[in-house]
Order: sequence, then C-alpha cells, then structure tokens
Amino acid sequence: MDDPFDLSDDRAYSHWRTRKLRAYPAEITDLRVPVERLDRPTPAEHAALKTRIATFNMALVEVDPDKIETEALLAFTQALGLRTTDSNLFADASAVSRITATRRNPDEGGRADAGPETPGGATLGDFIPYTDKPLSWHTDGYYNPPDKQVEAWCLFCRRAARHGGENGLIDHEMAYLRLRDESPQHIAALSHPQALSIPAHVRDGRTLRAASVGPVFSVRSGHLHMRYSARARHVLWRDTPDTHAARAALDRLFSRPDVFTFEYRLEPGEGLIANNVLHCRSGFDDEEDPAKARLLYRVRFLDRIVLD
Ligand SMILES: [Fe+2]
Repeated sequence: MDDPFDLSDDRAYSHWRTRKLRAYPAEITDLRVPVERLDRPTPAEHAALKTRIATFNMALVEVDPDKIETEALLAFTQALGLRTTDSNLFADASAVSRITATRRNPDEGGRADAGPETPGGATLGDFIPYTDKPLSWHTDGYYNPPDKQVEAWCLFCRRAARHGGENGLIDHEMAYLRLRDESPQHIAALSHPQALSIPAHVRDGRTLRAASVGPVFSVRSGHLHMRYSARARHVLWRDTPDTHAARAALDRLFSRPDVFTFEYRLEPGEGLIANNVLHCRSGFDDEEDPAKARLLYRVRFLDRIVLD
C-alpha cells in the first residue's frame, strides 16, 4: 500500500507532498470556523471544521465566550470523535485543565502564590505552562510514555492576557515535509525509537512521572505523529551525528518562512482544535485580579480527530 511516510516510497511521498503544498501559504483566517453552539455543532459547522483539520491538522473555532465550560467542551470534542482524554496532575476529574498564571516574579509586583500542591509536592507554578513566561516549541505530552501519546488537543480562551500570550503554530506534517526535503536522513534519525528521552520527574525521592523514551516522528494507524520539545533542559537527545544534525535542522525550521507558521493570539471565545500540531506561546503581561486574568481551557486526547 502507498505510504507517504515510508522513506523508501518516493512516489507516495511526492503525491502527498504536492497535495499538502497546494493548501499553502495560508492565513489564520483560512482556519476560522464560527460555531453557534459549542455543545452541538451543526452538520455544516462539523463539515467546515473537518475540512480545516484534514488540510492543516487544526481549526480555529469561534464561539460565545460564556459558553466555554467543561461540559460543552467535552460535547464538542466528542462530536469530532475524541473519546479518550489524557489526564494530568492539574486537570479536573473530566481531564479539563484551566490554564492560568499562578506564579509571577514577586520582584515585578505580581502574585507570588505558587498554586495548589500535588501529593508529590509539585505546584502549578513549577510548570511553565502555568506561569506568564514564554513556552518554547513543542507538541503536547512529549513526556508521556510512547503508548500514551497525545494525538489531539483543544485550547479555548475565556479571557486573554492584558498583553501577549500569542501562539505560534506549525502543522507538524509541514515540518516533516521540509525536513524530508532537506534530507531523508533527518527523518530516519528522528524516527529512531530512542531519538528523544525525557528523564523521570523526581522530587524528594518520589517519582512524579516516569522517564519517557521514544521517537520524534512515528506513524500511528497511517497518520504522522510528532513528539517534540525544543527545551534545552530536561531533554536528552540520542547521541549520534545524524540525530544532532536532524535536531539542528529542526531548530532552523522555526525561523524558516516556508514552514508557514501561523501566529495568533486567541481572544475570548476563540479556540484551537488540533491533531497535536507544533506550537509555542509568547510570554504575557496579565491583570492583577485573578477574576480578570488570562484563562484558557485545555483538553488533551489519546486519540485523533475522526475525519470520515
Ligand atoms: Fe502545549
């Protein structure tokens, strides 16, 4: 069978590549789909979402900000075939995380509270997503075990920051395409089962998360999956010349215009739904009042968006 992600199948790759490039360059407006009722997208809205996701692996949803709450979000994602949520330390029982900055530098006059504590002693403020600091390029759940990879996520904005908090987004298939064009060896190196390791998260002798070892690129049920973090700390790359070259090529990718990065700040009522595309976030300047501070709702899934 034709497999565009098989390095020995140039013909299938070439067809897939041509199809993929046909959609680019693209603007953020090409991703936008207004949805009247988040908990019950109409067949037309559903079809519009699926077209965006089939083309770009993501869509930008526009809803009434007051309707963004746990149950509506789960009904919306379920309508797109997402069934298996990935819980984390700070998600509620339904795996929905409320992302807000819990700790800021007290020297800058921000709130100094570090948020609730987990049984292991880690607090929200220990994790960069829950601060106002920039977040480097990554896909979600890169520290999950290989058999529990995050294949899709959604991120909805209830309140935006006073300034900043902009996302960068790259379709991971486009990253793959540019890297493979540069050298198929990059893809081979990044597909190695030990390409990228995330050491265990241990605190006071207790393991909060086991080590995660796996490839950057893998093919799951015929779909390309990417597992990546640009962080320099707490990541270990396989120590071979090919891996180092591939990693450097990946780093260069983020400043290349032909990877077609979307740059966008979510406003209240806007949300992204994606097959775990590459993303980053700029730092932000928030309101002092927690009731007015930036608040995003996020859900991660172990399955992909169903497009049939
Ligand atoms: Fe993320």
